[in-house]
Amino acid sequence: MKGWGLLLLSLHVISCLVSGVASGHTSSYVRTEFPSTDIPLESEWFAIPKGYNAPQQVHITQGDYDGKAVIVSWVTPEEPGPSEVFYGKKEKQYDQKSEGTTTNYTFYDYKSGYIHHCLVDGLEYNTKYYYKIGSGDSAREFWFETPPAIDPDASYTFGIIGDLGQTFNSLSTLQHYEKTGGQTVLFVGDLSYADRYKHDDGIRWDSWGRLVERSTAYQPWIWNAGNHEIEYRPDLGETSTFKPYLHRYMTPYLASKSSSPMWYAVRRASAHIIVLSSYSPFVKYTPQWWWLKNEFKRVDREKTPWLIVLMHSPMYNSNEAHYMEGESMRAAFEKWFVKYKVDLVFAGHVHAYERSYRISNVNYNITSGNRYPVPDKSAPVYITVGDGGNQEGLASSHKVWWCLRPWFELSSLMTPSRTTLHSGRPVTAIQFYN
Ligand SMILES: [Fe+2]
Repeated sequence: MKGWGLLLLSLHVISCLVSGVASGHTSSYVRTEFPSTDIPLESEWFAIPKGYNAPQQVHITQGDYDGKAVIVSWVTPEEPGPSEVFYGKKEKQYDQKSEGTTTNYTFYDYKSGYIHHCLVDGLEYNTKYYYKIGSGDSAREFWFETPPAIDPDASYTFGIIGDLGQTFNSLSTLQHYEKTGGQTVLFVGDLSYADRYKHDDGIRWDSWGRLVERSTAYQPWIWNAGNHEIEYRPDLGETSTFKPYLHRYMTPYLASKSSSPMWYAVRRASAHIIVLSSYSPFVKYTPQWWWLKNEFKRVDREKTPWLIVLMHSPMYNSNEAHYMEGESMRAAFEKWFVKYKVDLVFAGHVHAYERSYRISNVNYNITSGNRYPVPDKSAPVYITVGDGGNQEGLASSHKVWWCLRPWFELSSLMTPSRTTLHSGRPVTAIQFYN
């Protein structure tokens, strides 16, 4: 059983195509299905950085609508310490400073460290910045690169990862991704799988933050929450939702006029990326519904020919696992995806790769008699990205109903390379790694 846990999406213009950019291909990697147990807490992969109160779990995400800001986040374990980011365009010359905020939380019998979030804005496009956080001997230094300006011809490479967890398979996904040249990760939900623990929930959020820091400190991860982030645990006295996730992982939701960090949009290079929350209200007249209705109107294909939607639970899925769980969101939003000609919809949740043909079911209703999806040139391609490596293992059982088969391309892992999507641009590479 192959587990495709990582996709790489390279957006290029036609001139790149004719100059010989490689088309998509699949890797030959076959992950071990079981056992897929979490890395022990004492492992070097979770090593705590040296020095008193040293910043750890460093991660950045886009901090505005158009890619000229980042939010830098980190945790200090012993005391708050300074919530400052020193940064500049030359290594070890930090001539600018941003001031952030500090928060913390409790979850059952766990008390978090001091969680810092700092907006660094007013950045220049296409520029490498160096930054430093922490103080004295415990200070730590990193860097990131800003994207090109919003431009229909801007090339950019996204990694798409979901359902990552913290097993050695998760580590393998990270290590493979680092070899790809991906510039930003679009994360489709289910981060740490810490909710599988009772006493160690917070501890496993911390260890996951240290595991992924090798990537998240150096490039933005565009966050989306999955069901493992809900953490509604009345049995533990925890009755709010998404509590650890929302304290630890920021999103630039205000920049896209969203009222919640759970759903938002960013524009980056030539792509307009819409992040939807599968586990927040989305039926007609809810805040997420109103927001998406308006966000689609803000999409300008002249500036961002690529229109990409992220969600956790797939709207089209022929796997036994989580079958039909995305149906209610399909009923709510699919007609807009078709109307606005979304290029690609990426989802996680189901731990197996699957990609649809361009199909829609928008004509379905009780009386139409159209029971099944039909080919639709205005519809997106739906991609379930596959398992990132978490301890739950692979979802290896697809339904074999003949009626589902026409709409999915399971037999071939070849990519839709050199096909033209609604963007009017060719996809030169969707590569699969694990
Ligand atoms: Fe999930």
